Amino acid sequence: MDEEERRFLEQVLADVLQHLEPPVDGAIRRNLAPAHLARTTDLALPMVGGGLEQALADVRTFLREAVRTDQPGFMNPLWGGVTAEAIAAELVVAATNTAMYTYEVAPLASLIETAVLDRMRQHLRFPEGAGTLTSGGSNGNLMGMLCARQAAAPASGHDGFDGRSWVAFVSEEAHYSTAMAAGLIGVGRGNLIRVATDGEGRMDPGALERAIEREVGLGRRPLCVIATSGTTVRGAFDPLEPVADVCERHGLWLHVDAAWGGACLFSARHRHLMDGIERADSVCWDAHKMMGLPLICSAFIARRPDVLRAACAHGNEAHYLFHDDAESHDLGRYSLQCGRRNDALKLFLAWRSKGDAGWGAMVDRYMDLAAHLADRIEAEPMLELVGRPAWTNVCFRHLGAGAGLGEASDRFNAGLRDALLEDGRYMVSRADLDGRVVLRPVIANPAVDASTLDGLIDHVLRLARTLEAESQVEEPQP
Ligand SMILES: Cc1ncc(COP(=O)(O)O)c(C=O)c1O
Repeated sequence: MDEEERRFLEQVLADVLQHLEPPVDGAIRRNLAPAHLARTTDLALPMVGGGLEQALADVRTFLREAVRTDQPGFMNPLWGGVTAEAIAAELVVAATNTAMYTYEVAPLASLIETAVLDRMRQHLRFPEGAGTLTSGGSNGNLMGMLCARQAAAPASGHDGFDGRSWVAFVSEEAHYSTAMAAGLIGVGRGNLIRVATDGEGRMDPGALERAIEREVGLGRRPLCVIATSGTTVRGAFDPLEPVADVCERHGLWLHVDAAWGGACLFSARHRHLMDGIERADSVCWDAHKMMGLPLICSAFIARRPDVLRAACAHGNEAHYLFHDDAESHDLGRYSLQCGRRNDALKLFLAWRSKGDAGWGAMVDRYMDLAAHLADRIEAEPMLELVGRPAWTNVCFRHLGAGAGLGEASDRFNAGLRDALLEDGRYMVSRADLDGRVVLRPVIANPAVDASTLDGLIDHVLRLARTLEAESQVEEPQP
């Protein structure tokens, strides 16, 4: 690396550190329409390059426009915040660029990935197992269903699979990636049966059993059940023990989507949410959600290594990559990817820095913050908490003047969320729950504290008052 490149990188690092300071105007997002942003930014790819000077200017433009996901007001998706270990790891990963397929090109990285997966497996209380870091929980759900298919129809990977007579089961609040996975493995989205939930969004095991029996009665072949530990909108945990009982009785593969909730296993206070996880056949668990690692960092772990290996089989065609003498350390044999980034280092560094105890304290703190937010909402007459949070998703709506609970309420709350986005100081997501619009802040960002949450509530109430006043001016009551 020459002197100019060195100076360039030092300047970029200085700019990044400056970027991570709190924004002067408090805004974490500029509300620019795509057309406006495209018009005001130079995106042309030139015939003749502008060198590092141009690259530095582009870095600055990029930082200026980036949503401030590191700031406390960012409570929108199931991830957020930034840590020093993670930035360090990502720098090191870029500088030591490699692919995780073979030990040959990624020696220590392979051992590190094996070590983090092994520790996660221990937290799942699987006596044995094999896993891989994937491109996310969606991919983990796909791999779970693929492994289920592999176990139920071992020749399917080679001979093909006509899945039209098969069915799979998820709760009605499961993540949409399960539908995509059903399509991809050949079962078909239409054959993914959505099992009823109880009043708190958890899969009803009785309804699951009845659905399986009904489908079997219709001549269909059940493939697997996908339970969720931490649903996307409500943060519900399906009851794993009774669901595992049902799977055992019917000989079904149980995949658990713990993309969002897996971190509860670190907390002595909250790990009961996943009681029974040791009975699952496979699990996905995103470290890039509650554990705060930058995207992507996501684990898939199967209890039976032979099934995962067979599901990723390619007929030993990659003679240029895999050789028998390195068999036991080549992670590429357990992955659907060929070239794959080193996502393990950031998890390793964070884990070594925090330890299990640090992760556990993080979960407990986030749960306390979620309870604080729920209490604040309950104490406000103009807000309605939509269910006490089981995890750190806190769903609520504003009872806008005269809005009732119908479409007018949905319109008001959707408008309130638009106003939040436009203002730019807080980002929370908008979702539908039981067919009605709710606002859903989540606690998954280490920068959030009780004062952030108090600020959010005050701000929501203020914006709602403005909206109400505006609507009265626009629509005078008869
Ligand atoms: C419950 C659940 N499963 C799976 C996923 C997908 O995870 P990813 O975004 O890592 O693909 C999500 C994403 O929010 C989720 O909430």
